[in-house]
Amino acid sequence: MKREQWGSRAGFILAAVGSAIGLGNIWRFPYMAYENGGGAFFIPYLFAMLTAGIPFMIMEFGLGKKLRGSSPVVFSKLNTKFEWLGWFQVLIAATIGIYYVAVIGWAISYFGFSFGQDWGTDTNAFFFSDYLKLGENSPTNLGDWQWHIAIPMIIAWAITYAAVYRGVKGGIEKASKIMMPLLFIMVILLIGRVVMLPGALDGLNYLFAPDFSKLLDAKVWSAAYGQIFFTLSVGFAIMLAYSSYLPEKSDVNNNALMTVLINCGFSIVAGVLIFSILGYMAAEQSKGITDVVSGGVGLAFVTLPAAINLLPIPYILGPLFFLALVVAGLSSHISIIEAVTASIMDKLNLAREKAATAVCGVGFVVSMAFATNGGLLLLDLVDYFVNNVALLASCLIELIVVGWLVKLSDIRQYVNRVSEFSVGQWMEVCIRFVSPIMLAVIITKNLINTVN
Ligand code: PHE
Ligand code: NA
Repeated sequence: MKREQWGSRAGFILAAVGSAIGLGNIWRFPYMAYENGGGAFFIPYLFAMLTAGIPFMIMEFGLGKKLRGSSPVVFSKLNTKFEWLGWFQVLIAATIGIYYVAVIGWAISYFGFSFGQDWGTDTNAFFFSDYLKLGENSPTNLGDWQWHIAIPMIIAWAITYAAVYRGVKGGIEKASKIMMPLLFIMVILLIGRVVMLPGALDGLNYLFAPDFSKLLDAKVWSAAYGQIFFTLSVGFAIMLAYSSYLPEKSDVNNNALMTVLINCGFSIVAGVLIFSILGYMAAEQSKGITDVVSGGVGLAFVTLPAAINLLPIPYILGPLFFLALVVAGLSSHISIIEAVTASIMDKLNLAREKAATAVCGVGFVVSMAFATNGGLLLLDLVDYFVNNVALLASCLIELIVVGWLVKLSDIRQYVNRVSEFSVGQWMEVCIRFVSPIMLAVIITKNLINTVN
């Protein structure tokens, strides 16, 4: 059977960008930049992008395209001893896929609430008590079933399932071609309205004002590296699977560069959006920015709903924001589920329809654990472990395998043969030395933090 292929270069890039751009760009990057030196954070961030992000992306696209397989196939073709690394990555992807969908479900709920700001004025109590029902936790009722959380999760699964079931060109590519332009338009509309609000410029000033003294802090550099691996969806089977469907003539280096630049550019744009809103909120409430700034779940489901209450035309800006969050999340979720599905298809020689049904079916059932009032606790735990240990360890092992245990120069020659511009020896230096050393430092640091 012939391997499926992307229909167009733009289709592939939009799908890869759809995977890369996710919740991390919207709620992780802005807060991280703010906390780690503001404008000065761009120096370590760009450095990490150049020394880790771009080489890693070129390497994965090259491997996927050359060896034509999902992660387990790619690593077993490099050397049968390494097949387990592929399955380890698939396991991480599956784990992320199962909890990420819960957050998408919450965002779908909040999209619904946002038309009338149903969250009221106490958005904190609303999210944790009324919506997640955390207040009702006790060791005996942690597993209480919550239909109002399950139903939006079912919607998210249905969309992902439809895209993966229909395949690379007819499903994933088509979905990306609708979702990504829609996301960009929504974000532009939002920014266009919020940057003109009073206080918005102060917010941006807080985001971009450089604190160069932070550059001496090793923490800031490790934050930048951690964010680059996370934000680009590299190291967990996704980009390998996506690039295994590239047509013979595709330009690997160029595609990789575009994917990285669009993702990182989007992060900065999202930072402008979030900090304009936060600056406005601080001004309206006569507070300092430090009193309102946050990241993650708290930003999306507590702070921003409160900010939306204060915005002009909240019934338009609110739904735009939450729909953007849903779209960004879904396109990433599709890519994770595709990575798992492709591995099962390749390995068991299953038809796509069967593999997709099995993966989504099992994923759906397991993910329903998050539709209980213990969901958030479980999610925090899994999220912490995956982001701080498993994902980084998987990237590190991949770098060691590809950089040291197989012939990396062959891969560089291969990507250069099929590209308009060539990457030099620096790529090998980054993959063999710079990135693994940085990763080893970060992982050690995170493990120490966990123990403490
Ligand atoms: N790159 C995504 C982001 O920045 C992270 C991600 C992608 C997570 C795919 C899971 C799956 O949000
Ligand atoms: Na991203």
